Amino acid sequence: MPTILITGGSGRIGSMLRQRLARPGRILRLLDITPPASPGPDEEVVVASVTDMAAMTEACAGVDAVIHLGGVSGEGPWDKIMEINIHGTYTVFDAARRAGVPRVIFASSNHAVGFTPRSAFPVPDYAFPAPDTYYGVSKVTGEALASMYHHRYGLDAICLRILSCFERPTTARMLSTWLSPDDAGRLFEACLTAERPGFRVAFGVSANTRGGWVSLDEARALGYEPRDDAEDYAAEVIAAHGAPDPDDPVFAYLGGEFTRPGYDAEHLK
Ligand SMILES: NC(=O)c1ccc[n+]([C@@H]2O[C@H](COP(=O)([O-])OP(=O)(O)OC[C@H]3O[C@@H](n4cnc5c(N)ncnc54)[C@H](O)[C@@H]3O)[C@@H](O)[C@H]2O)c1
Repeated sequence: MPTILITGGSGRIGSMLRQRLARPGRILRLLDITPPASPGPDEEVVVASVTDMAAMTEACAGVDAVIHLGGVSGEGPWDKIMEINIHGTYTVFDAARRAGVPRVIFASSNHAVGFTPRSAFPVPDYAFPAPDTYYGVSKVTGEALASMYHHRYGLDAICLRILSCFERPTTARMLSTWLSPDDAGRLFEACLTAERPGFRVAFGVSANTRGGWVSLDEARALGYEPRDDAEDYAAEVIAAHGAPDPDDPVFAYLGGEFTRPGYDAEHLK
């Protein structure tokens, strides 16, 4: 039975994907430090940390693809980012290799290239790293691991530089950067089913009217076609936050708020 291991299966994106990646005859194995709500008959639960090599290797047994979402999903102190996001992502890739899993899909982030200036939009696929935070550095490191595990060991390894994946857009920036839950489902499904993709780096965003900040060429080459548009929520977002102001420094770089001077682990403590 095809089995997909989802690390961070109890988190925001993991919970979105559970419903959207369910298929007859497909098992979703959900790994997290927190158990998921109400697992269904085609779901298996593993409570473990992505930093635990023995547990990860066991969780990878008989798996057709790993979707690696688990970890710290925003800026944090260096030690924590290093242990969970950097060492944890190494552990996930190496466990996949040890268990013979052919494919890993890694949730990278726009923050791997967050300091790309607006003048360089649309940011090309494979844009050179410009991380905006320790968190962004951990995503760059994950992409480097993906590249190495592909070239050295032959794993198919896809890095998705996700922009803003939330139930709905809630800020002016998200009118440009939103990835809807349904489009996220389409994107990850494309990554699961693309034939021998090799090593890829692709952006994850919906078809937002105010978008065009990043290339979608590589995502489309994988078979993704976005259908949703944050514009459907523009009136309510603008009523709550005002119209987007292009001179707001939050629009100077792809990474938005994460590029602001106060947005570092020291200040966020
Ligand atoms: N949501 C977004 O807009 C967005 C954008 C870019 C990238 N991403 C990335 O996508 C992934 C999922 O994001 P999310 O929004 O669902 O985040 P989230 O914080 O809701 O989920 C992360 C999950 O990882 C789990 N986790 C934390 N430490 C763990 C560990 N040591 N071992 C196993 N599981 C652990 C948490 O319990 C949580 O359920 C993250 O890697 C994040 O960096 C998200």
